[in-house]
Amino acid sequence: MECSWKTLLLLVCTSLGVQYTAIRSFHDSFSGSCQDSTSAAAARKHILLFAQTRSGSSFTGQLFNQHPGIFYVFEPLFHVQQAFTNSSSRLQRALDGRALLGAYRDLLLNLYNCDFSFLESYIRPEPQDHMTGAFFRRSSSHALCTPPVCQEGAKEILAGQPDEVWCPKKCQALNLTLASQACQARTHVAIKTVRIPEIGDLRTLSEDPRLDLRIIHLVRDPRAILASRMTAFAGKFRAWKMWNATGRQPRYVDLTQITRTCRDIEYSVETRMQKSTWLRGRYLLVRYEDLALNPEEKAKEIYRFLGLDLHQRVLMWIAHNTNGTVPSSSEWNYKYSTTRDSKATAQSWRVHLNFDIVKTVQSLCNRTLSLLGYKLVQSFLSKLLIHFATHFYPK
Ligand SMILES: *[C@@H]1O[C@H](CO)[C@@H](O)[C@H](O)[C@H]1NC(C)=O
Ligand SMILES: *[C@@H]1O[C@H](CO)[C@@H](O)[C@H](O)[C@H]1NC(C)=O
Ligand SMILES: *[C@@H]1O[C@H](CO)[C@@H](O)[C@H](O)[C@H]1NC(C)=O
Ligand SMILES: *[C@@H]1O[C@H](CO)[C@@H](O)[C@H](O)[C@H]1NC(C)=O
Ligand SMILES: *[C@@H]1O[C@H](CO)[C@@H](O)[C@H](O)[C@H]1NC(C)=O
Repeated sequence: MECSWKTLLLLVCTSLGVQYTAIRSFHDSFSGSCQDSTSAAAARKHILLFAQTRSGSSFTGQLFNQHPGIFYVFEPLFHVQQAFTNSSSRLQRALDGRALLGAYRDLLLNLYNCDFSFLESYIRPEPQDHMTGAFFRRSSSHALCTPPVCQEGAKEILAGQPDEVWCPKKCQALNLTLASQACQARTHVAIKTVRIPEIGDLRTLSEDPRLDLRIIHLVRDPRAILASRMTAFAGKFRAWKMWNATGRQPRYVDLTQITRTCRDIEYSVETRMQKSTWLRGRYLLVRYEDLALNPEEKAKEIYRFLGLDLHQRVLMWIAHNTNGTVPSSSEWNYKYSTTRDSKATAQSWRVHLNFDIVKTVQSLCNRTLSLLGYKLVQSFLSKLLIHFATHFYPK
């Protein structure tokens, strides 16, 4: 019967440690029926690095970008958001809200299948002959800077230069057909996004039988997120800068963004705590501070969760980027740089935020902080001491 050789193959796969049966039975579609084909695509993991702006996601994304078996894309949803923001107001109204989320999800599904056609329709200026020079942060994807997509850079890679430094200069316009082929050639796909508000928005993707979605939910202390945003986006944070310098809150300071960030984190973590079945086995919460403090150990935990081997290249990248040993050429230090001492930067909000701001954020984000095990500071002095609970969240 059709079924038997597949069952046999499954048994072989299981004994080889491919964990195929575990994955299929999780969909509870395998109980007795064999209509699912054992295609190679079944082993493909669809990894989503789910985070907020300035929560250490560039750093964390490198754990996937450096793996030769993973095709990593840095925030493809940027193009969707741009296209929606720019559309005419009539269209805008029609597309707003849930529709934007729908477009995000469609694009993710498309990319997880190495199909770049959706993305292509959002890139501006429009790609010609599937060629574009406007792919957002193309050089944050190692696969888009190396053969077959780009033939340059052998010397620079050998010298240990980050792709972000040499790739924009040496690699010509991006051929999206080649990008798709490079994606198909790798076993797994990982996508980083900071544009989806909360984990509940991922339910349809998580339940999609065509995907084997693994969500890495990266969180960071909201006080650190704020300090990092103030530095990276100084122009938009003038009022906050003033507050930081004077210790007095300007009347026109905008508290809504950080409040929303905290609320989104809170909702996501609560969804997880309700033990939603659609998240079972598919969700891992990672605190950036834990990763920054013990990058190797945390990377191992992440890869264990994914059911993948931690490649030597990832370990090497960690060794080179978490201990201040990287060349400090000014060119290499830019806004989204990940090459720096992660241990020091994770806690730098303690010296970079005025205590008055800290108190306000603690009261706005009180529940989020306590859910994630970040301790409140009560005085200027205790702000300087590093306190945070480890092993805080229920598995
Ligand atoms: C949005 O519109 C502005 C002004 O028309 C234009 O300069 C810009 O390139 C557009 N951006 C995108 C992503 O379409
Ligand atoms: C892009 O790559 C494809 C696949 O190799 C090739 O057929 C096509 O000619 C390339 N496009 C351009 C404009 O070079
Ligand atoms: C880097 O690691 C070495 C040991 O591997 C240690 O002696 C040194 O203090 C570390 N440097 C920093 C800046 O943490
Ligand atoms: C806030 O002020 C302190 C002390 O004046 C300064 O060291 C720090 O860089 C400022 N923080 C930000 C985010 O601008
Ligand atoms: C959060 O704020 C509420 C009300 O202000 C307070 O009762 C509670 O103890 C605070 N929670 C934490 C964890 O500080």
